[in-house]
This record gives sequence, C-alpha cells and structure tokens, in this order.
Amino acid sequence: MNADIVICADHDQAVRAAAEEMVLGARDAVARDGSASIALSGGATPRAFHRLLGQSPFAVEMPWEQIHLFWVDERLVSYDHPDSNFGAARRDFIDALHRRPAGIHPIPVGGKPPEMAQRYEQALRRHFRSPGAPAPTFDLVFLGLGTDGHTASLLPGSAALKEPQRWAVAVKGGQPDLWRVSMTAILLNRARRIVVLATGAAKADIVQRVLVGPFSPGLPVQAVKLETGRTLWLLDRASASNLPPTPPAAESGRSGS
Ligand code: 6PG
Repeated sequence: MNADIVICADHDQAVRAAAEEMVLGARDAVARDGSASIALSGGATPRAFHRLLGQSPFAVEMPWEQIHLFWVDERLVSYDHPDSNFGAARRDFIDALHRRPAGIHPIPVGGKPPEMAQRYEQALRRHFRSPGAPAPTFDLVFLGLGTDGHTASLLPGSAALKEPQRWAVAVKGGQPDLWRVSMTAILLNRARRIVVLATGAAKADIVQRVLVGPFSPGLPVQAVKLETGRTLWLLDRASASNLPPTPPAAESGRSGS
C-alpha cells in the first residue's frame, strides 16, 4: 500500500502531528506554487486538531493569506447547526485567526442536495481552473475513518463510490442520518497528499481491516488511492492496538512503514 503509518502515543499527540503536517504541507505548497489548497473533514476526531490551528504556534506558522480551505464533506444543515462541519471549524479555529485565509470555501447548504453538490463541484472546478484539471488538485486532504470503513461521506454501498466523473455528490445517511454533500474518490485521489487521522480504541478493528486485513471488498476508505503521492495514516496506540508490532522507531515518530 502506498501509505506511511505513524503511531502516536495518544490522541493529543496524533492531533499535534496532524497540525504539524498541515503547516509543513502548506509551506511546501506555498513555496512551490504561491498558494495551498487544503480540504478538511468533519466528525469528532479532528476537533482538537482544528482547535490547535487557531492557537500558537500553529496559527502563527501557517501561511494563512495563501491558504484556500475546503471541506471534504458537509451535512446539509445550516452552518450554525451543531452538526455542521464548516460551523464546527469556524468555532474551532477560523474565527480565532488574526490573518484571513485567501479563500474559505464551505459546501453550500441552503438548497436541494443535488443542486448543492453541483454548485460545490462548479466552485471546485473554477478554483482548479479547468473542467478537466490534471492531478494533483489539493495539496493536502485530511480524512477521517468511520467504524464501518466510511470516509468523507462515502458510505458503504453508496452509489457515490462508483462515481466515474463527478467531483461532488449528494448522499443520504451516516451518523447523524442526514443529507450530505461529499467529494468523490476520483477527486480525493487527485490530491498530492492525504492524511487519515484515526484515533481511539473504537477504530482499532477497522484500522486493522483496512491496513492489514482480512480485507473486505467495498470498504469506502479503500477507494481512496492517490494517483501519485502517499497517504499518511496518523494513529494512536489505541486505534493501532490490533496492528502487528511495529519497530520502536515507527512509534510516535515520523518514520513510515
Ligand atoms: C463527517 C466526516 C466523516 C468522519 C468519520 C469519522 O462529516 O461525518 O467527514 O467521514 O471523518 O465519520 O468521524 P469521527 O471522527 O466522529 O469518528
């Protein structure tokens, strides 16, 4: 698998490692291209990571004025609703920033799901400046992992998993069970780098199934395979507890496997 696995001591260290990845990835992209396009996930796991982004040293180290922020998926509720991914990010760090990002691109939520997906796709294609933009698109994508193997709002059995062309689709389901808009695997796979952040004992079984098997076909996260580049799995000891023993150097360090 084209992946590196880092096992951190605990959730706090894993979210710190995610914030460090964000700063490194953003700075590299800005040095190379003058700006960075980054997509964030929702759910509970990244909340502490997002809070770090609004605090020193990360808030200071990030080249915010050159950053375009996007969301991998969104629940179709108002941004003030507790289930809104963008709303959570706004409360967790965006409102605290002293320097405004170059672009903040939440998924539109105020209308019918397929229309919201279409509008988001148009915004993405405009941002990447070509209807058939070549890979890579995002410099950095942060994903989460559900205990059923979903990532973004690509749910098991969903038609969105087989989507051959669209960059964003409307999906119904998940926890909470809502209409959502999600980026598709074909877009996610065109990123330069993906970081999957999965911590806690509840994720241990699914992390094992995805990273060492026995593999079961149809796990949505397995549709995420970068065209170029590597995926970094940021785990903690609890979520990695079913993985085979790792050499000590791979524990809470930056080494891959
Ligand atoms: C969402 C997410 C989703 C999430 C996983 C893990 O909006 O629901 O983007 O893919 O990352 O469900 O969620 P937890 O971090 O809450 O376990």
